[in-house]
Amino acid sequence: MKIIITTPRDMQSWSRQRLAAGERIACVPTMGYLHEGHLSLVRRARAAADRVVLTLFVNPTQFGPGEDYAVYPRDPARDQALCEAEGVDVLFMPAAADMYAPDASTAVVEEALSRRLCGASRPGHFRGVCTVVAKLFNCVRPDVAVFGQKDAQQALVIRRMVRDLDFPVEIVVAPIVREPDGLAKSSRNVRLSPAERAAALGLSRALGLAREALARGERDADAVRRRLERELAASGLRTDYVEIVDTRTLEPAPLLAPGVLVALAAFAGRTRLIDNCEL
Ligand code: PAJ
Repeated sequence: MKIIITTPRDMQSWSRQRLAAGERIACVPTMGYLHEGHLSLVRRARAAADRVVLTLFVNPTQFGPGEDYAVYPRDPARDQALCEAEGVDVLFMPAAADMYAPDASTAVVEEALSRRLCGASRPGHFRGVCTVVAKLFNCVRPDVAVFGQKDAQQALVIRRMVRDLDFPVEIVVAPIVREPDGLAKSSRNVRLSPAERAAALGLSRALGLAREALARGERDADAVRRRLERELAASGLRTDYVEIVDTRTLEPAPLLAPGVLVALAAFAGRTRLIDNCEL
């Protein structure tokens, strides 16, 4: 790694110098425990700017009570080595105490897209995400930031926040990276037992069923939704949601049609997994 920075102030002063030198900065926000999905975002970021800053911060405010903040996988030494190998210019890894004052009382709330899908089952989640991403943008001051389509709703919510609050940041969304058997890469996959890892394949299988249904000419989105729910249950997963929605508004789509977003969330044991595809 060229540079590790741990405080917002030091991050801002590094960025101020690079921007003054006329360089373009790309930011890849992550919670660490990096995998090929994250690294694909880094490569996309390198293509878009002179400097790449990867942020590694397991953000407490986006986890609900009873969620997996305490056991979220962490391995900063390994993450550092991966960043180094990928040619990341700066690894920004602040401590929670440096990001949030004990009496912090300001937040960023997106009030429409955030209510749907993951927002409905994880109240407060997108408030935490928007607030931390706004803070990270203020620390890194990127020209461009790269997010993954794996979290399709998150990318939409961030785009909306950037538009609504005039952040001078271009948002790029990169495709989902999968394991050879179809499971979407996720830091949380290491928490799966062998049986849960096998069950988790139900998610990508269900997305395949949705694609087949569209190809067959099936139009009834609700019938397809129920078919996908049965697939998740048969795989041994506990469904959180199966939604077929408009790609831009996330409102339920009555008809299965090219361009709709199929979004899934399900538990394998205690681990919550998400996946999606745009038909
Ligand atoms: P995290 O889950 O670490 O993900 C960081 C970025 O990597 C997100 O943009 C996510 O969509 C992307 N990503 C994860 N798995 C991927 C995959 N299999 N293929 C492609 N991209 C993938 O998302 C967060 O962290 C946080 O909410 C954060 C934005 C950092 C705010 O705390």
